[in-house]
Amino acid sequence: MQEKINQILKEIEAYKIETQEELEQFRIKFLAKKGIVADLFDNFKNVAAEQRKEIGQKLNDLKINAQEKLNIYKSTIENSVTSSSETLDLSLPSDFNELGARHPLSIVRNEIISIFSRIGFTVSEGPEIENDWHNFSALNFPEEHPARDMQDTFFIEKSPDVALRTHTSSVQVRVMESTKPPIRTISPGRVFRNEAISARAHCIFHQVEGLYIDKNVSFADLKQTLLYFSKEMFGEKTQIRLRPSYFPFTEPSAEMDISCDICGGAGCNICKYSGWVEILGCGMVDPNVLENCGIDSKTYTGFAFGMGIERITQQKYKTKDLRMYFENDVRFLRQFEQAL
Ligand code: DAH
Repeated sequence: MQEKINQILKEIEAYKIETQEELEQFRIKFLAKKGIVADLFDNFKNVAAEQRKEIGQKLNDLKINAQEKLNIYKSTIENSVTSSSETLDLSLPSDFNELGARHPLSIVRNEIISIFSRIGFTVSEGPEIENDWHNFSALNFPEEHPARDMQDTFFIEKSPDVALRTHTSSVQVRVMESTKPPIRTISPGRVFRNEAISARAHCIFHQVEGLYIDKNVSFADLKQTLLYFSKEMFGEKTQIRLRPSYFPFTEPSAEMDISCDICGGAGCNICKYSGWVEILGCGMVDPNVLENCGIDSKTYTGFAFGMGIERITQQKYKTKDLRMYFENDVRFLRQFEQAL
């Protein structure tokens, strides 16, 4: 009997209890009415009288041992059950996941794309890291043009041929090189210039380029397209005015102003009391540029334009400081999504 008790003691010690069921099995096996311990007590009457004291003691120790193990595991398992059910309390209000808002520049870019896609313009994109050909040479920039200067352009150290594009006009070149006319496309993207950051200028900003190449495209087509865009973007009452200008890649070239929609043309501090706000550059694609890109300039003509998304966004939302667009303060960014 003594030996049996020792063996059961070892068994109790080694018994693995991890779950509620295992705990219950342990109880049934050792401590239930018909369990091992009760069985041994039943057999106690057969123990010889001189051994009774010693065996009785051992038998009691065995029972206490089993009971203690049961109690310890019972409380640990119950604790772990309550703590895991606490994390699953389905009556608790959920974490509040706030929705983000679209960036004002994205809202305006999407609006520009939408306006031009309604009159058949596709969207094309090009790389932000460009070579001299696509950013300058193919666009008729003379060798000594100041835009090639380190002052304005971020060149990479190892090669004067590679730079961050200074405008999205580089995408025009890529499109014309790879597509046969008719071409009607706009190219939104990020551009880079080596400029000091201020409320009115940034070294990174966004442009949308437009390009239309076909037979018999005229300056009147350009003007009408830009008038349509301006009315869609800023409202039916908006007027445009084209001022002669110069760009190496267009001839003739112009800059376009829209009537200031803040003062309605009467004059305010946003339009510097002129009643007009400059929005974009444009012109008829220079025949040299068409030829550089493999398009016959005797058969085809076209117009191009380029606008700054920040400038248009500022005009649309009357934000004064350009730097706000890059700080990503959610209190600023939240204000725009509902506006459209
Ligand atoms: N690339 C010019 C700039 O960054 C904008 C521009 C002017 C684009 C005239 C054009 C254009 O396509 O025809 O200032």
